[in-house]
Amino acid sequence: MPPDDRWLFYQTALTGASRRAWVDRWPATAPGAWVDWGAAYGALSVEVAQQRGCAVYAVDWAPARLDAAARWSGRVPHRGLVLWTAGDVMAYRPPEPVVGMSARFLLQHLPDPAGALAHWASVLAQGGCLMVEDVDDGWTVEHPEPPAAWTTVVRALGELQRTRGGDRHIGRRLPQLLTEAGFALTSTDVAIEGAWVSPEAFALSRRMERLRLDGERDALLSGGHLTAGEWEAGVAARAAASGSVFMTAGTLRIEAHKRAGA
Ligand SMILES: C[S@@+](CC[C@H](N)C(=O)[O-])C[C@H]1O[C@@H](n2cnc3c(N)ncnc32)[C@H](O)[C@@H]1O
Repeated sequence: MPPDDRWLFYQTALTGASRRAWVDRWPATAPGAWVDWGAAYGALSVEVAQQRGCAVYAVDWAPARLDAAARWSGRVPHRGLVLWTAGDVMAYRPPEPVVGMSARFLLQHLPDPAGALAHWASVLAQGGCLMVEDVDDGWTVEHPEPPAAWTTVVRALGELQRTRGGDRHIGRRLPQLLTEAGFALTSTDVAIEGAWVSPEAFALSRRMERLRLDGERDALLSGGHLTAGEWEAGVAARAAASGSVFMTAGTLRIEAHKRAGA
């Protein structure tokens, strides 16, 4: 796995219990294939195959992630068939009818989420379901408040994602985007996880955060989002934190169905 990607792998592992509890509540569908858009390391794709016993097209345009996912998934017994598929989520079309889809932590990265949803609606069978989960930083709380120098770095990261066309507040926009793309919303839940984090666990989470950040350092500096001094001050202030913290993180989880005539 590329070193810059370790944070994504950890995120997949650490959000596993909550993700699986959500997948267990997904609705039954007619027989047919499933597409997991932006599959990355494929944990969700494998869990869908496990739950439903169907063919799952795990679509991502990063072949190194799909190769790793294919190798690891061989060690996990699952019913169904995961088809690791290199492709663009804006254009890929599976060669068979699709009765269900999922997209988790993907739409926040897409410059044209409305275009992606319109394409997915065109791929999905009438009445088929789309399960979406994505972030909204508006539900992030940390107490005690992080140092101002660190908040500057976090804000710069959000700006960088925006210049790439992404949006870390996409959660609140999803109901409207889905409705306009031809979906009817069956449920719109906010999953907020809160934790009183021990000093040791906080240190571990900051190490993960740092892995993700180090991969973006050059882009932050060359894009003018931060000066080298702001970077140094921010990461030093974050590293100096000690004690326990209370943290929340929230995601929007939507079950949607393709509307008749859409
Ligand atoms: C944060 S990861 C998704 C994580 C995964 N769905 C999960 O639940 O753990 C986003 C993934 O979307 C992929 N991606 C982003 N834009 C894409 C596009 N236009 N076409 C295909 N894959 C894309 C990235 O390569 C990355 O692997």
